[in-house]
Amino acid sequence: MTKTVAIVTGASQGIGRATAVRLARDFSALVLVARNRAKLEDTAAAVKAAGSELLVIDADLAEPAAAANVVERTLSAFGRIDALVNIAGAVPGVDVFQMTDEQWHAGLELKLHAARRLTVRAWDALRVSQGAVVFMSGNAAAIPRAGAAAVGAINACIEALAKAFAERGIVDDVQVNCVSPGAIMTDRRTAMLQRAAEAKQIDIEDAKQGFLRQAGIARFGTAEEIADVVAFAVSPAAHWMTGTVLRMDGGEVRSV
Ligand SMILES: NC(=O)c1ccc[n+]([C@@H]2O[C@H](COP(=O)([O-])OP(=O)(O)OC[C@H]3O[C@@H](n4cnc5c(N)ncnc54)[C@H](OP(=O)(O)O)[C@@H]3O)[C@@H](O)[C@H]2O)c1
Repeated sequence: MTKTVAIVTGASQGIGRATAVRLARDFSALVLVARNRAKLEDTAAAVKAAGSELLVIDADLAEPAAAANVVERTLSAFGRIDALVNIAGAVPGVDVFQMTDEQWHAGLELKLHAARRLTVRAWDALRVSQGAVVFMSGNAAAIPRAGAAAVGAINACIEALAKAFAERGIVDDVQVNCVSPGAIMTDRRTAMLQRAAEAKQIDIEDAKQGFLRQAGIARFGTAEEIADVVAFAVSPAAHWMTGTVLRMDGGEVRSV
């Protein structure tokens, strides 16, 4: 069997961790990227149990030099890249009138520019393998809110960027899509609900129920459900699907 190699950013926890563990079933080598080495090692143990070879890279992807480093180390370890999954993101959920330039810059630098730089750096290897790229946006791109304006604005940028790469990918035979999760119960979501609970002086369970009522959904999604969507997007079955935003959100976005 030919070796197949997938890079997953944000692999230390949440959706990125679940995606790495899921992709270990389909790829023979996984490259796990995030800052927290201990948590990456924990993901690595789960990936190894599923049978994949591993490269663990603890890097701050907001640093402009990090993307080249990740791609070079991947190629020197495994010689190819078949899938790049850009999941790392930590856009501050701050009100549009309170958010500082520094917070906007930090959100953009990681979620948009790190994903863009990695895709540019990995592109030649992806052309050779006829590989796939996945970006991760989120429902806030379709439902922007004043209380977390950057989350919506940056996710909308990500979707536009994915479509731009996808156009070039038609010529280069690299397939590029975006996965847009709804409300997924991860540490990031728990922290958001905790902040909402504190602001409203209610307990976290009431904040969760209030969110579900407002979003009009029956439950929160799981990281594993999003990992399955990503696994489809980088699979041979999806090879002709490109430039698409794949939404999984329990029905929250109802517009066409
Ligand atoms: N959870 C949701 O409801 C939801 C909904 C829509 C979209 N999303 C998107 O899905 C993605 C994952 O969300 P999540 O809920 O799984 O978030 P999470 O649990 O907070 O995980 C974020 C990941 O990004 C990594 N990361 C953060 N800053 C980094 C940096 N400077 N360099 C490298 N890695 C960095 C973190 O690792 P380290 O801290 O170890 O660096 C972590 O692995 C995000 O892009 C998020 O916007 C989430």
